[in-house]
Amino acid sequence: MRKHTVSEVTTPRRSLGGIVILFSLVLAGCASDAELDTLKPQSDVARSIDNLMDPVLAVAGVVMVLIGGGILYMAKRDHVDGYEELDFPEQIHGNNTLEVAWTIIPAVIMALIAVATVVTHLAVNDTEANAYSVEVAGETESWEPVVVVVGQQWWWEYRYYFDQDIDAEALGDPRLLPEADIVTAGQMAIPVGQEIELVISSRDVIHSHWIPALNGKRDARPGFWAPWKLEADDPGVYFGQCTEFCGLSHSRMRMQVTAMTDDDFQAWVDQQMTPAAVPVGAEDYVAELRAGNNASLGESDSAAARGLEAFVSNCSSCHLIDGVNDLTYTGATTESGSAPDLTHFASRTTFAGGILNTYNRDGSLNRDDLSAWIRDPQAMKGNAANDLGDGVAPRGMPTLGLGERTISDLVDYLETLGPKPSDELIAQTEVD
Ligand code: CUA
Repeated sequence: MRKHTVSEVTTPRRSLGGIVILFSLVLAGCASDAELDTLKPQSDVARSIDNLMDPVLAVAGVVMVLIGGGILYMAKRDHVDGYEELDFPEQIHGNNTLEVAWTIIPAVIMALIAVATVVTHLAVNDTEANAYSVEVAGETESWEPVVVVVGQQWWWEYRYYFDQDIDAEALGDPRLLPEADIVTAGQMAIPVGQEIELVISSRDVIHSHWIPALNGKRDARPGFWAPWKLEADDPGVYFGQCTEFCGLSHSRMRMQVTAMTDDDFQAWVDQQMTPAAVPVGAEDYVAELRAGNNASLGESDSAAARGLEAFVSNCSSCHLIDGVNDLTYTGATTESGSAPDLTHFASRTTFAGGILNTYNRDGSLNRDDLSAWIRDPQAMKGNAANDLGDGVAPRGMPTLGLGERTISDLVDYLETLGPKPSDELIAQTEVD
């Protein structure tokens, strides 16, 4: 008893158009070389997640096509205009075979997925890693390979402790973390093929740490230390992104993990353990500072030396440089109470929370972005470091109103805080 109307002809066409637009939008999110591709696992633990997701996605896909297709088919077959005719198709209520089948089949599928999920969950959360030998100051340390990860608005801090066992429960407030052997920002180095334990927390709001190729996400929550782990099959650079909305520059809170051969990792450790180089012409000035005395550089022809002095007078109440100011200082005037450690700033290829390149493609220092960042950070990355109301702690890097010569001197000084990474690494870690 079917009546064909105009709407019956146009509605499928309209919904087909809708489906095409929807799929186009979904497909627009695809890229063959996406940095944050979660479907290309590069470690055992990331593969275990993939091995769970792929079959579940396949089963869910089949179920979606069967159910969705069945609904569409029956909607078309049994379509009537208006309800008053009560022209219902044949009812199957009480059909035992069907009802048993559609109870048992989903129950079996769900049970299988549940078992696989629990197994994967346990594997992913087994964060015990074997010790790793690393040479520190001429002595071989058996490093319980833990890296302390601290989320902050809006960048990630990585802290390495080689000669002390790091116990998440004993760490306490991230503001009270003990002095570390190595502190980096935005970029973390790990030896290849070695499980690295992470303990993750936050100094302000909730963030989430995610290196898609190496493992799933783990939230960084203030007041808690969450265990996690990373491992990479091959040397290379793995990109990550904060994945918990954490305020204004959440989308600009990026990070990278560089997996290195054992030799390269040891070389990196050696570099990072070395105190910052003192620019030529600033030796006496730094010696006075280290002795705890007030000092002034006086006239100097060395831009880097002048930059060091500018750092001490303008930047050192938030940023630390090993060998220049007090490493235990943790009292930045921001909500987090901390700012990136700049001791080996120029050994990192990104800055400003992993969104700007320290070097240009030709390997030269990216003076343009560095100057622009120091001149007016707000213009480069949204923050809330200036003009806040009473009692509201600022967030992010403030605009200090420095003169152009001071900015240029600071950039010269930052360049000395190397060593400069290889051209290959600069190319691999480039962000846009
Ligand atoms: Cu940190 Cu989003």
